[in-house]
Amino acid sequence: MQKLLIKGGKKLSGSISISGSKNATLPILASTIFSKRITLSNVPMVKDIFTMAQLLEFIGLKIFLNKKNNSLKIFNKKRNLNTLAPYKLVKTMRAGILVLGPLLAKYRSAKISLPGGCAIGTRPVDLHLFALKKLGAKFKIKNGYIFATAKSGLKGNKINFPKISVGATENAVLAGFWAKGRTVLTNCAIEPEIIDLINFLKKLGGKIKVVKRKIVIDGVNTVKNISYRIMFDRIELGTYMIAGALAGNKLILNKVDPKIIKTEIKFLKKMGVKLLIKKDKVVLTKSKNLRSISLKTNPYPGFPTDLQAQMMVLMTKAKGVSKIQETIFENRFMHVPELRRMGAIIKINKNIAEIHGPTRLSGAEIMATDLRASVCLVLAGISAENRTIINRIYHLDRGYSNLEKKLRKCKATIRRI
Ligand code: UD1
Repeated sequence: MQKLLIKGGKKLSGSISISGSKNATLPILASTIFSKRITLSNVPMVKDIFTMAQLLEFIGLKIFLNKKNNSLKIFNKKRNLNTLAPYKLVKTMRAGILVLGPLLAKYRSAKISLPGGCAIGTRPVDLHLFALKKLGAKFKIKNGYIFATAKSGLKGNKINFPKISVGATENAVLAGFWAKGRTVLTNCAIEPEIIDLINFLKKLGGKIKVVKRKIVIDGVNTVKNISYRIMFDRIELGTYMIAGALAGNKLILNKVDPKIIKTEIKFLKKMGVKLLIKKDKVVLTKSKNLRSISLKTNPYPGFPTDLQAQMMVLMTKAKGVSKIQETIFENRFMHVPELRRMGAIIKINKNIAEIHGPTRLSGAEIMATDLRASVCLVLAGISAENRTIINRIYHLDRGYSNLEKKLRKCKATIRRI
């Protein structure tokens, strides 16, 4: 099994080009079920994208991946696709559930494996099914699969989500895109990745409007052949911003739109992190005397749960008691025992973590548990004294493109063994 070996204490300097967004690419790929010929650029070359591509190939699309220029060409020539998403392809990547909306809308039936449990919480799909039912779908759950049908096709309706969900909003937008008539979604998630999906669908021919947390979709039944550039990965950017705050001399993060990460910038500035915001880049310089803060994870434009673990590492360096309240997932503090092994002082009470600082972290052998927890351990290793060995790093490859290469270019000592 592969491990990461990090020699901590090195100062980071140089520039990193932020990759395209994994979480924007996944629903956009699911939507190619409606299309004929699509070219996507700025696609991050990470495992989750390869898994989604495999799933689409299983369904019957042809996908050509160009790893050198980060692009994907997708051809959908078959009149009838296979409407099955098998367990082996959905179990490692929950986003497999996103093909449910498009398959149901276009082919009126689908059999999708239930994604199953996940390390960070139970992660049910009831909200996805709730929305699709409102559009006329019927479901049976048997042998771990969702059997979905919409005999006379999906029809537009009003859907008010009882809880904000990124994936359920995406599935409803995808279904509404091809449903007959008007679909009005309220209490939606409005993450930038959802806006990217909507921009893609509009270019494809979709008629979609977003007003605050309301999305209005007028269904279509024809599409154009298009090329589309995926937005930057705001979580990757946030991760490297925190790396810069922890260990940066001068770290330049390119190919981004800082307007999208106002909340992250606000909290980092509050802690005393020195950053310069340019039109399409963020520059981190050496930060000293960091201050403790309290934050709560929330749906966008709130502070992202996907950056909570990384932020916790930075809080170990801040003077005083910082607090993080995790409101999205019920079990997202699994990095805490590992950080404690490196010397962090963190107390947990239900969904609130109290981080006491400043502490010196010291290298240790640790275990990665999920994608964002894994990268938080990398950040801890970079800022710790001595050597850190991280086990079970396959999670990192699901979502971070060229992580070691990007960090090594900025003078970190990190290698895979
Ligand atoms: C997406 C992101 C993930 C991010 C999360 C929250 C992708 C591929 N993944 O995940 O990185 O951490 O948003 O920003 O884009 N829930 C239900 N029923 C449902 C669906 C969700 O109760 O049917 C709950 C979940 O358990 C969780 C909360 O709603 O507590 C939010 O989950 P959701 O926004 O749906 O996350 P994902 O779309 O799975």
